[in-house]
Amino acid sequence: MTLEEAERKLAEYGQEHVLRYYPELREEEQQALLEQIRTTDFSVLGCIGNEEKEKNGRGRITPLGAMELSEIRAHEEEYRKIGLSAIRAGKVGAVLLAGGMGTRLGSDRPKCMFDIGITRPVYIAQRLLENLEEVCREAGVKVPLFIMTSEKNDAMTRAFLEEKDYFGYGKENIWFFRQDMAPASDYRGKVYMETKSRIATSPNGNGGWYLSMAKSGVLDVVHEKGIEWLNCFAVDNVLQRIADPVFIGATISRNCACGAKVVRKVSPDEKVGAMCLEDGRPSIVEYYDMTPELLAAKNEKGDPAYNFGVILNYLFREKDLARIAGEKLPMHVVNKKIPHIDENGNPVNPAEPNGYKFEQLVLDMIHELGSCLPFEVVREHEFAPIKNRTGVDSVESARALCEKEGIRL
Ligand code: UTP
Repeated sequence: MTLEEAERKLAEYGQEHVLRYYPELREEEQQALLEQIRTTDFSVLGCIGNEEKEKNGRGRITPLGAMELSEIRAHEEEYRKIGLSAIRAGKVGAVLLAGGMGTRLGSDRPKCMFDIGITRPVYIAQRLLENLEEVCREAGVKVPLFIMTSEKNDAMTRAFLEEKDYFGYGKENIWFFRQDMAPASDYRGKVYMETKSRIATSPNGNGGWYLSMAKSGVLDVVHEKGIEWLNCFAVDNVLQRIADPVFIGATISRNCACGAKVVRKVSPDEKVGAMCLEDGRPSIVEYYDMTPELLAAKNEKGDPAYNFGVILNYLFREKDLARIAGEKLPMHVVNKKIPHIDENGNPVNPAEPNGYKFEQLVLDMIHELGSCLPFEVVREHEFAPIKNRTGVDSVESARALCEKEGIRL
């Protein structure tokens, strides 16, 4: 992109300040900045202020029942058989969403490298691979694992897993791909500059994983291998079951386009997104969108009607993802801390949120699909997310849950 083209593109979005330091940059920095301007999607900035409109535009929320533990237990063997045979036939792949910044944890390294061990090193990635390995042992085959990283953590994640010999999972069973980045802006919608020659960016949310898989060419591997189901999961739940045969079998036998692992909420106002129907299609209502009526609603059994929270472990039928790939997911404008340089070019590391990041979320994909099976799991056995250092969903709470499960830390 030439300087004139960059100026035109920036003017279109009111971002002329991006070139403020251009004249004083070295030639290679100038080239890098022009390239970044060329590839940056500034149109996301137009989403600022739309959140309220989007919320008001939501459809009618009604309950969606889950497949509960009693039902799962009654059919466990049947579902396990179906799931295992899909895994053995090579129809199941796993997708680790590891492109996030993990800012709440406050580590400067990728979350998967975080060590939760006490008497020995136990890395988050190790916990996940050990869990997946258990299923592979039972099935007698390796489940192909696709790992999504971002520009910010790709090199470190790859180097770490290589150094640890992929915790025995086998390099040949793992593929990496990178997600896209989005610019980060101040509250007026002016993008921040990370340095004089770089626009501040952040990963564009976990909702773009399928498109990023396609863009990177990794989706060809999925097609070549004949993978029909993709189990997509977060990096930070150190107890989760990946490629769980019973979950896969239940979703297949219900002929659903996707399945979502859910836990029974501890209280109607617990801060997790709850499965629901929105205008008759599966969806997730965020805890901050729960109205007093939704909080008080009961089902025919007398239980809270929105009783099942999602844990970011979804099973998607690949051909349905291909079908909805052209649909535009909503853009979430998130208030975050964004390091940047000030007017004098000095670095600023804010202690409080100072602007917006732009993210699409995997949970919004559910709504595009016609059918979803919420599948209940026992919270203590399968849900130990690490979001914070201490307190709720923290290293501390996850350690305690791991120890209860007999995992040596
Ligand atoms: P979180 O919502 O916890 O976000 O991600 P985060 O960025 O990791 O952490 P904070 O909010 O900065 O503390 C849930 C899952 O989605 C992945 C994360 O890696 C995690 O597995 N994710 C999130 C991505 O893969 N890409 C993203 O852009 C955002």
